Amino acid sequence: MADGKKQATWGGRFSEGPAALMLRIGESVSFDQRLARFDVQGSQAQAAMLAHVGIITDGERDAICAGLDAILEKVEAGRFDWDPALEDVHMNIEQALTEAIPAAAKLHTARSRNDQVATDMRLWFKFACAEVDASLTAVIAALVDLADRTRDVIIPGYTHLQRAQPVSMAHHLLAYVEMFARDRTRIAAVKEQANACPLGSGAIAGTTLPIDREFVARELGFVDAEGRPRVTQNSMDAVSDRDLFIDFASACSVVGVHLSRFSEDLILWSSAEFGYVSLPDAFTTGSSLMPQKKNPDAFELIRGKSARLTGNLQMLLTMVKGLPLTYNRDLQEDKPPVFDSFDQCKLMLDCVAACLPGVVANAVRCAAAVADPALLATDVVDYLVKKGVPFREAHHVVGALVGLSERLQLPLNELPFDEVSKVHAALGEDWVEAFDLEKALAARDKPGMPGPMQVAARIEFWRQA
Ligand code: ARG
Repeated sequence: MADGKKQATWGGRFSEGPAALMLRIGESVSFDQRLARFDVQGSQAQAAMLAHVGIITDGERDAICAGLDAILEKVEAGRFDWDPALEDVHMNIEQALTEAIPAAAKLHTARSRNDQVATDMRLWFKFACAEVDASLTAVIAALVDLADRTRDVIIPGYTHLQRAQPVSMAHHLLAYVEMFARDRTRIAAVKEQANACPLGSGAIAGTTLPIDREFVARELGFVDAEGRPRVTQNSMDAVSDRDLFIDFASACSVVGVHLSRFSEDLILWSSAEFGYVSLPDAFTTGSSLMPQKKNPDAFELIRGKSARLTGNLQMLLTMVKGLPLTYNRDLQEDKPPVFDSFDQCKLMLDCVAACLPGVVANAVRCAAAVADPALLATDVVDYLVKKGVPFREAHHVVGALVGLSERLQLPLNELPFDEVSKVHAALGEDWVEAFDLEKALAARDKPGMPGPMQVAARIEFWRQA
């Protein structure tokens, strides 16, 4: 039998303590101890509010707050003795505080662990969103730098993983910048949602005590742009809502999907088959058997970890789906997946930001890959359209030219003009000008297109942003 008597917080009605296995299945302190600083912050605000409304004295408030500071110091120095018999971070801290300060017995007045943990997590989400945002911003900056270095590197763009049309490597990289910028808005939306204080919801139905919810919200920074306090509006929703967990995990899993696609591109590009880039040694590994190998492990792991982020989201959705209102202990399982999504997402982003400065484009291999004139077949269609040929007909004509080049085993732009002119009267000797790569790119000069002017403008835009 484990030491259930330590369970002074709710032990009143029990004649024996929980079984050792109950403690093992019930404890969350092994993973929620990372909430300590938010729990302390929440408790200090609670104490300040209780003093403000006269439930405790100013002296008691000061003693509680000082005691909590001392506990946090111990926690941060790694000297706090976490006890799984006390279940979670909240009861560990409260118990330690009560041992040191008698007034701590009043701290939990008008509060339940249900609104307490909801508050801690909202504070944590604000912190976590700021961290993910900083990491996203660093990735964007590193991508923009790499785009700047690869403005003049032309590569084939792909559809169906078949060479399609030429683009600059910069334009390809800037596509990911768009994705990560959208991720920032998703993370910002989660942060905005987190900004309401659940304290005062109690276990489920609030309290009869004369608390001041706005006061405690203000203390904890749950305020709008004008500094007005924001509090949750339904006590039952406030203690059972896990939307933020789902939204955060969802935003992280979209980041993961973007990182995974980016990783896949870099893995392909760094293969001997493509050879468009080389990756820095510091983010690759060798083989224990094959001495020549240089494997893109960091990007493979990012691709793998993105699956984990998706799994975390799935876990949360499944956990919440069948739960009746309000709090059910199932909800304690909400933290490992969001902590994992946060840790992994940040690690993945930070690896990419650190690796990108060492990525080097291989100009020779890129030039060779983009040399096939067939990549500009669409530009020949445009040439015909400009001469008044309807698009569908022009497409057909160029298709016939491609067929001819295959039959004659000649590059498209080297077909003899007497053969070419037979295919359509609108094809003049100047048709070969369509194969000028630089011109072809420069002509793509409308917003969003891969022309160098547009790419330069977008690089400038992101630098300003
Ligand atoms: N450790 C718990 C959790 O994370 C705190 C809330 C406990 N509430 C309760 N009614 N037992 O969910």
